[in-house]
Amino acid sequence: MASLTLKRAAGAWLAALVLGLAASAQAQSPAANPPEADFAKQQQAQQQSQPLNNQPVWKEVRSGQAQTSTVRGRETNVLIQSQGQTWRAARVTVSTALGGLIAALVLVLFGYYFWRGSIELHGAPTGRVIERFSPAKRIAHWSMGLTFVALGVTGLILTFGKSLLLPIIGYTLFSWLATLAKNVHNFTGPVFSVALLIFIFMYAKDNLPKAYDLQWMAKFGGMLDRSGNTHVPSGKFNAGEKGLFWSLVVVVSLVLVVTGYILNFPNFDQTRETMQLANIVHLVAALLGIAMACLHIYMGTVGMKGALDAMRYGYVDETWAKEHHGLWYDDVMSGKVPRGTEPAAPTLPQGRPA
Ligand code: HEM
Repeated sequence: MASLTLKRAAGAWLAALVLGLAASAQAQSPAANPPEADFAKQQQAQQQSQPLNNQPVWKEVRSGQAQTSTVRGRETNVLIQSQGQTWRAARVTVSTALGGLIAALVLVLFGYYFWRGSIELHGAPTGRVIERFSPAKRIAHWSMGLTFVALGVTGLILTFGKSLLLPIIGYTLFSWLATLAKNVHNFTGPVFSVALLIFIFMYAKDNLPKAYDLQWMAKFGGMLDRSGNTHVPSGKFNAGEKGLFWSLVVVVSLVLVVTGYILNFPNFDQTRETMQLANIVHLVAALLGIAMACLHIYMGTVGMKGALDAMRYGYVDETWAKEHHGLWYDDVMSGKVPRGTEPAAPTLPQGRPA
């Protein structure tokens, strides 16, 4: 009985030994695992024929094949995310093209100013003023507008500073400037998002499109008539301002806010690909938005006499209202639209406090 058990155990051991040796021989045979063996051979050959050219390794890395990691979390097994290279290349192309657009637009605005000059009033100011923007509306405009400008300037420093400023101001100064720009940008973004929503809420009603806006668009508001004799009727805001409101303020700025939050808070657990996409969309929206804001800031300052006073002090002269926003002026005169509060102090014809 005992010798039978011993024989059986010896047989099982022998069988296990034979099977084990066969499996080990198969694992070591090049034919058993051809791709890995081929890869190793390719690597050896590559290192001899083209030393330091590690292309096959990087090809494997870029294949997107998951790696192994004991760290738990999203994408922790993707050690190198190869789309990062595509993203970096796209960033350079997009920023160069749209940065060029902004530079060209600034030149066009300079040219337009020298050709057309500031749009002046034809009639004499009456000295009677109408309220154009209440204090609350002015605070809403400046909170949104100035935070936008701060984000635009710091964003431009972060995008183009390394190529344009670093060679001029050197590493020490640029490092301080870039750190400051990054922090101002990151902390101003959320403030802008709140100011933006308040602005949209307060200004949307006056920006609803009306049939007469088509006339303004057909003649481009008379802006290309150097004599200034083309008068196009417009309500509280003209079609150009309405276009700016819906495109820049509503669409572009909301896209900037959403993509900005995705970039500002990586702890939302988004993937690297989501952040790269958000970054490209943010960049395109920002550069287009900055170009549009340049047009608006030009018209709100040097482009039209009296416009800045309206947003600074809240009042415009009746002649300004009649010449630039005729239908709004008619509505105020007929009492259809409230004339607003009287200024607390006497004002100059432009609407400025005396
Ligand atoms: C710091 C630079 C800025 C200046 C000097 C400025 C100037 C002005 C002025 C003078 C007005 C009144 C125009 C009128 O009476 O019809 C105005 C209105 C307005 N501004 Fe600005 N602004 C600036 C920044 C911005 C920015 C950055 C935005 C958008 C992101 C913006 C969006 C608007 C809008 C939407 C209106 C009202 C027009 C409408 O609702 O259709 N502003 N601005």
